[in-house]
Amino acid sequence: MSLTTDDFLDIDDLSPAELDRVLDRAAALKDGSDETRLPDATLSMIFEKPSTRTRVSFETGMTDLGGHAMFLGPDDIQLGHGEPLRDTARVLGRYADAVMARLFDHEDVETLAEYADCPVVNGLTDEAHPCQTLADLLTIREYAGEDVHVAWVGDGNNVGQSFVVGAAMAGIDVTVATPAEYAMDEAVLDRAAALGGDPTVTTDPEAAVADADVVYTDVWISMGQEDEREAKLAAFDGFQVNEPLLAGTDAAVMHCLPAHRGEEITNDVLESERSLAWDQAENRLHAQKALLVELLA
Ligand code: CP
Ligand code: NVA
Repeated sequence: MSLTTDDFLDIDDLSPAELDRVLDRAAALKDGSDETRLPDATLSMIFEKPSTRTRVSFETGMTDLGGHAMFLGPDDIQLGHGEPLRDTARVLGRYADAVMARLFDHEDVETLAEYADCPVVNGLTDEAHPCQTLADLLTIREYAGEDVHVAWVGDGNNVGQSFVVGAAMAGIDVTVATPAEYAMDEAVLDRAAALGGDPTVTTDPEAAVADADVVYTDVWISMGQEDEREAKLAAFDGFQVNEPLLAGTDAAVMHCLPAHRGEEITNDVLESERSLAWDQAENRLHAQKALLVELLA
């Protein structure tokens, strides 16, 4: 049974039942009980921004599945030298079985999907990071099942926004603690609510973590926001995930990585027994393989 969506631009392009199915398949691919392969499938991967996990997990995943992935960095294709995105999309769509793209503007990944005649997967835009959410939900399932309370602490950014929507789809209770000026988009919270979620929103990180099973954070200065560094560092004072914040809780800690130790999280917390960050990183591989199988098989 294939997915009802051709593209994966954000987590709620899947239905809750499809999300469940992708996560089940990810677990089965991980434990070896699912041996589905995609022989001869080709994935084109466009990157406007750097990446370790997204690039390597997609490339490795395609090799594992018997297919092939090609890395197309900013200087590798004509897109970086003035060829319009829609032309790139139409051409790649005629070669590749799927295109994965890491872009700045979310509208650009929508344009890509509109013009490419093959599935398009969002590998991170300024608004969303749904592949990360798949890995996050798989990690939470492994760690705690789904009867769990997650506190998102820090920036209301791309990773957090997709996570809050995905958590609503998975029935996970979420509290979001951000500075008022870096809150999540109201439209994102509305999408989570429409999917049955009821995220609690606060500007108080201590209140947010008080009864959390998992505390999730991400960098304060995302790629492309380097000019905002000073203003953001000032605004996020008090939002660092550190042992004093976590004192009195036995919460696990999640981070999508890369981490900026000493900013949004301390080295000792990231390196502690609380940290699920390395499982999250591994689960990118299994979750994306499952997504590709569901999109392409
Ligand atoms: N979490 C994540 O997407 O990492 P990369 O930027 O290394 O791909
Ligand atoms: N919020 C970060 C995530 C990196 C994976 C960024 O956009 O840079």
